[in-house]
Amino acid sequence: MPSEILFTRDPQTTLSDFLSKKGYSKVLLIVDEHTKKHCLPLFSASFLEQVNGCVIKSGEEHKNLNTCSDIWRTMTEFEMDRKAVVINIGGGVIGDMGGFCAATYKRGIDFIQIPTTLLSQVDASVGGKLGIDFDHFKNHIGVFKEPEAVIICSTFLKTLDKRELRSGFAEVIKHALIADALAWHKIKEQSLEAQNWDEVIPHSVNIKYLITTEDPTEKGLRKVLNFGHTLGHAVESYFLEKGNRILHGEAIAIGMIVESFLAVEKGFISKDELKEIQNYIISIYGHVHIPDAALDEIINLTLHDKKNEQGAVLFSLLQKIGQANYNVAVSAELMKQSLTYYNTLIG
Ligand SMILES: NC(=O)c1ccc[n+]([C@@H]2O[C@H](COP(=O)([O-])OP(=O)(O)OC[C@H]3O[C@@H](n4cnc5c(N)ncnc54)[C@H](O)[C@@H]3O)[C@@H](O)[C@H]2O)c1
Ligand SMILES: [Zn+2]
Repeated sequence: MPSEILFTRDPQTTLSDFLSKKGYSKVLLIVDEHTKKHCLPLFSASFLEQVNGCVIKSGEEHKNLNTCSDIWRTMTEFEMDRKAVVINIGGGVIGDMGGFCAATYKRGIDFIQIPTTLLSQVDASVGGKLGIDFDHFKNHIGVFKEPEAVIICSTFLKTLDKRELRSGFAEVIKHALIADALAWHKIKEQSLEAQNWDEVIPHSVNIKYLITTEDPTEKGLRKVLNFGHTLGHAVESYFLEKGNRILHGEAIAIGMIVESFLAVEKGFISKDELKEIQNYIISIYGHVHIPDAALDEIINLTLHDKKNEQGAVLFSLLQKIGQANYNVAVSAELMKQSLTYYNTLIG
């Protein structure tokens, strides 16, 4: 686990204090054009003058080996040695890729994550997974390595696109549903806009932290984090292939509804609990119609999902609100029923 997860309203002071304890030889900040514009202003001019910078192009399509080569080249040009540090200021793309570059440069140097999207704050920055996409395979090449520190500041979210904020919120909802019924009841009383991020984010991070600490390499328990993701990923991939991309969290929102339907069918949660979940999620995300012709395609996509063992599609479902299980085998027929159910919610 990272040496420290630091929640702050003053990222400059928190970072400077941390760096002064470490005595690094060189500092490289990695940003993209959006975080350069919106997030670097939270740091002082004098600090920015003392460090090196590397600006990469934003977007998942740049989370690849070509961009890594650019980053490694920059690190080499700045003559960074094994006592240098990389600071990633950005969303999950920067964190995953900048972390991967640091973890592999000269067999691994220190890095600090300063996540600036809600998704990267509550999800990507905890758990030690780093990586890049390769050909059409997402997160295909990577390593597990912990950052020296994660510095989380909710002020960054003020400049984040509303749709990106809403997408990250799906992981917050997921964490509450799988691990903390009280948090779920609190969250669902408020709209997205009215959430108190300084309470919600540390709480959500802590849930992921506890789960990943208990199972760092995804042998068992960590699978509960896949709730909403088996069918959710398949829905995300389907829309992507059709050139009608929806954001990760928007797909996971659908995934959480259909997989809650599965939990009802398996006898884990009640129909009323399903309604409570679907009503809140639809109030935030609306409803996306899934074409009938797509259902089989989506089900086939789950068969390629890496979570499956010996051909069975294994799900992480809600055992009850605030607790999840894993390795629950679900048939293609039941998956189809769940997607059909979702489509009937708002037709
Ligand atoms: N390592 C993990 O455990 C883990 C977990 C979940 C997701 N991920 C990865 O995270 C990535 C998605 O992360 P993301 O949703 O943060 O996407 P992202 O990094 O692409 O950021 C989304 C957009 O917001 C912009 N942005 C970031 N911070 C901003 C700010 N404060 N103000 C204005 N604009 C800002 C970015 O430039 C980008 O255009 C995926 O590649 C996914 O695989 C990793
Ligand atoms: Zn997710």
